Amino acid sequence: MSLMKIVVDQGVAILTFNRPDKLNALCTPLLEEFRALLTKFEHDDEVQVLILTGEGRSFVAGADIGEYVDQESQQFVDYQKYSRSLFTYLHEYPKPVIAAVNGYALGGGFEIVLCCDIILAGEKAKFGLPESLLGLVPGGGGIQKLARIVGRHLASDVLFTGRRIDATEAMHLHIASQVVSQEELLPVAVRKAKDIMNSGPLAVRELKRLLHECSDSSFEATLSYEQEVLFRMFLSHDGQEGIRAFLQKRKPDFLGR
Ligand code: COA
Repeated sequence: MSLMKIVVDQGVAILTFNRPDKLNALCTPLLEEFRALLTKFEHDDEVQVLILTGEGRSFVAGADIGEYVDQESQQFVDYQKYSRSLFTYLHEYPKPVIAAVNGYALGGGFEIVLCCDIILAGEKAKFGLPESLLGLVPGGGGIQKLARIVGRHLASDVLFTGRRIDATEAMHLHIASQVVSQEELLPVAVRKAKDIMNSGPLAVRELKRLLHECSDSSFEATLSYEQEVLFRMFLSHDGQEGIRAFLQKRKPDFLGR
């Protein structure tokens, strides 16, 4: 049985982590399948937006602790490097990625969520970085990303205790942008993807880069970069088409260039 389920429809690819008996824990074959799909859809012009979700009652319950137990130190290092490079790839992915969090998003599962652009929390979503309860620490970027969103003090509360953040708290903390009933989670995610697809794809890609710059560079540097991108967008086909379509009261025909 495949460890990832895929549905592609009208420009949207829904990727479902599919190892429900282990709460979709990230065993190596699952990570490999996930990476292969990301690569495939990066180069597939038919797919504009990705949605990630999980089968059963979990999004992803973290690294596969069962794999950890027998790992030699070098194997452990290799696993961590592999998963971190995958998370970096997802973080920098050129297309928008929506996390539709249906249940547990713990450890590496939460780190995957934090790489996504838009986070929708199902009512049963539970976020956390419980590595300290195993005597470990997160290694996939979650510490920094969480602290940048919620601040050091709240991050300390979550990280030191390993406690879980429910959907409502996740929205208050600006981790999730919306809490949605379990039944509505995927339909809402698909509608969000369609809303994104109304925008110029080139503009969305540049916005994603700009938002990353905001958190990683100085205010001044980002301001200059922002205008550089705007000038480029103005000269692009999509920029010219968007302006004309608005004035001619019609839907723009974006070509992504
Ligand atoms: N790695 C490997 N297996 C995992 C797992 C993980 N991260 N998370 C859950 N599982 C497995 C359980 O071992 C169990 O398998 P089994 O039925 O063969 O015994 C199955 O998934 C169901 O989990 P279970 O613990 O019975 O469900 P629960 O509802 O009682 O608890 C959690 C759910 C998520 C609270 C609990 O599974 C948990 O704490 N998981 C680990 C989370 C974690 O520490 N992640 C960070 C890893 S670095």
